[in-house]
Amino acid sequence: MIELSALKADKEVEAIMTMSERQIEVLGFTEHSRRHSAIVSKWSGDILRSLGKSAERVRLAEIAGYLHDIGNGVNRMDHAQSGAILAYKILTRMGMEAEPAAEIMMAIGNHDEQYGIPVSDISSALIIADKADVHKSRVKKNIANVYTANIHDRVNLAAERSYLTVEKEKSIITLHIEIDTSICSVMDYFEIYFGRMKLCRRAAEFLSCRFSLVINGVVLV
Ligand SMILES: [Fe+2]
Ligand SMILES: [Fe+2]
Repeated sequence: MIELSALKADKEVEAIMTMSERQIEVLGFTEHSRRHSAIVSKWSGDILRSLGKSAERVRLAEIAGYLHDIGNGVNRMDHAQSGAILAYKILTRMGMEAEPAAEIMMAIGNHDEQYGIPVSDISSALIIADKADVHKSRVKKNIANVYTANIHDRVNLAAERSYLTVEKEKSIITLHIEIDTSICSVMDYFEIYFGRMKLCRRAAEFLSCRFSLVINGVVLV
């Protein structure tokens, strides 16, 4: 099994992630860099660990989380599919067996809300971890006036903190978000996140859990 540290130090991974960051910055999208990759990697592993999955499934989820947005180095469009193929090639080149590499490929290919479907425990954990990372530090451009910024930037700028809790005994996975409602209303948040939350619900169901969303301490679903 490949260590996460070896993956982070790999020259090919490094080069493609640098290109991915550069492209996303030029396009003016929210940050999809190493910070996001590291958080999604950690949270994907945490979800499966909390649910009592094996150390191997946890490690695979962590690797999938770290590599999940690598396809942004190719093109934002269909980045889940291009990233899945890239990850498979990188992992087998680094010595991973074909089957676990293919598990990661499948999870990455299903992480985006446009075509993604929770198809495995790893894929489900990755979907939830990815959609849970909402934070103001992800807005990279300089916003002169936050109130006239587009809704995507406003929603991210308003997010002070987001984190996940997993209650194995109750079979509930909860996404907690703290937002500054003077920047963005809860309705704005829903407008952007409705599709993502539906996918999180399906992902939690795959893990035999219920998905709950708590914004500013109020249980919404
Ligand atoms: Fe993505
Ligand atoms: Fe992502």
